[in-house]
Amino acid sequence: MTKKIIVAIDGYSSCGKSSMARALAKEIDYIYIDTGAMYRGVTLFALRKGFIQDGKIQEDKLREALSEVSLSFHKAHEHATPELYLNGENVEQAIRTMEVAGSVSPIAALGFVREFLTRQQQAFGQGGGVVMDGRDIGTAVFPQAELKIFVTADPKIRAERRLAELRSKGDETSSLEDVLENLSQRDYIDTHREVAPLRQAEDAIVLDNSHLTIAEQDALLRSYFERATQD
Ligand code: DC
Repeated sequence: MTKKIIVAIDGYSSCGKSSMARALAKEIDYIYIDTGAMYRGVTLFALRKGFIQDGKIQEDKLREALSEVSLSFHKAHEHATPELYLNGENVEQAIRTMEVAGSVSPIAALGFVREFLTRQQQAFGQGGGVVMDGRDIGTAVFPQAELKIFVTADPKIRAERRLAELRSKGDETSSLEDVLENLSQRDYIDTHREVAPLRQAEDAIVLDNSHLTIAEQDALLRSYFERATQD
């Protein structure tokens, strides 16, 4: 039997990482872990607890309360996408709002939050057979991953895709400018933070999907996977 590897998919916000990671995991029967969802889960927790007021995070309170946060992924059925649970509650919808998106990057910049989640991500991927997407998977969480992909796309195209997704979920108010502004803020914070900033690992393959269809990008990713498992 071929060895089960770790596939690390990193890149900017809203450039289709999760969709391609999910599709690959399904096809090759690997576990899919959306680490962005975990940062969003902690953000939702902090918002609900009132630890984020006017954009300011009460770091000490969050640090103290972090041991109350239990995150896990569960599938509704065998072929479903894993969904995030926060302390036993399915929060898959609640973590995808603009409110959470607006606070998640500063939360993800906190060293103690990263440590807390990185440990769990490493435990999830311990035995291999996992496709994990995020910002620091190939650089910090699994620097030894056998396959690393760095995904990019034109910012305007990313904003248009994200807006379409928000509209499909019933958000009628956010404009393209709002989404573009949120994306560029997140890109800036994600690439400039001190702990595990978003950057391309030296041995990562760059995949720019600005002008690729979903089928084309999935096929490309699959070909990289085949190559990595043949070596
Ligand atoms: O992929 P996403 O948009 O759901 O990620 C939400 C935020 O979490 C994003 O602004 C950056 C952060 N993040 C991170 O810092 N490290 C990860 N491994 C995954 C996400």
